[in-house]
Amino acid sequence: MKNLLITGASGGIGLETAKLLAQKGYTLTLVARSGDKLEKIKNSLPGKNHSVFVADLSLAADVNKLASHLQNIKYDILINNAGSGLYGKFVDLPLDEQISGMHLNMDAVVTLSYAFLKNAKKGDALVNIASLLGHSSFPGASVYASTKSFVANFSESLWYEFKSKGIYVLGFNPGAAKSEFHANAGKQSSAYPEIILSSTQDVAKELVAALEARKKPRVMQGWVNRLILFGFRFLSRKMAVNIMGNMSPGMKDQ
Ligand SMILES: NC(=O)c1ccc[n+]([C@@H]2O[C@H](COP(=O)([O-])OP(=O)(O)OC[C@H]3O[C@@H](n4cnc5c(N)ncnc54)[C@H](OP(=O)(O)O)[C@@H]3O)[C@@H](O)[C@H]2O)c1
Repeated sequence: MKNLLITGASGGIGLETAKLLAQKGYTLTLVARSGDKLEKIKNSLPGKNHSVFVADLSLAADVNKLASHLQNIKYDILINNAGSGLYGKFVDLPLDEQISGMHLNMDAVVTLSYAFLKNAKKGDALVNIASLLGHSSFPGASVYASTKSFVANFSESLWYEFKSKGIYVLGFNPGAAKSEFHANAGKQSSAYPEIILSSTQDVAKELVAALEARKKPRVMQGWVNRLILFGFRFLSRKMAVNIMGNMSPGMKDQ
């Protein structure tokens, strides 16, 4: 029986991924702030011995507690999925909330990856959830997109460092998905054209498939997203950032 810890498992992509992995027989530790939601999810998952770890991963003290847990209990897989963003122009958003997002999206990912990889053995895997926006600038969510560039770059470097040890590191990059992420960030997912939106179930299926295939350092989710990034190769940076700025919900007043 394989042990797996997933952060951000109380909703969205993390919840759907947890469901799929429980169906496949993994024993899960579910992490998020909402203990009540996690308990209900734990009890609804197939399989036994799942557990819950309540933590606010924007806070160093909680991240350190979870890192100690990762050092004391052997996990075969860690999925750093918890993340948040904020829509709006940089100077219109509270600075402390943007920095808190940096703690969650970057500091927690680095600290938990370190704790996990220190003890990792051949066959183990680390998955970090970045974003399509990790591969592009995004006016109207400039700090968020930059945190995801960090995660994408960090994960790819780790893939190389660990491949000779038989430890797989994946940077998984969803495009826009229909989750609470957008409402929590101050807009709705309907602010994006329907053609580019994926369901959280579809994102989770691709994530699990990539984890099982263990081939690539970086996986871009969804053919539309792959097409968009391919097209961007033929544009100047000025054109690319103008397109992203024009379509960004964070650049619109409503
Ligand atoms: N949805 C998209 O369009 C999209 C696109 C690209 C990448 N992503 C990335 O995919 C990941 C999952 O996003 P999602 O769409 O599933 O978002 P979501 O529906 O908002 O879920 C976020 C999860 O993270 C947890 N979380 C948020 N803040 C936390 C904190 N401070 N400490 C601990 N847990 C926290 C939430 O649980 P609690 O509130 O209970 O803590 C929840 O379980 C994120 O890293 C996000 O950046 C999302």
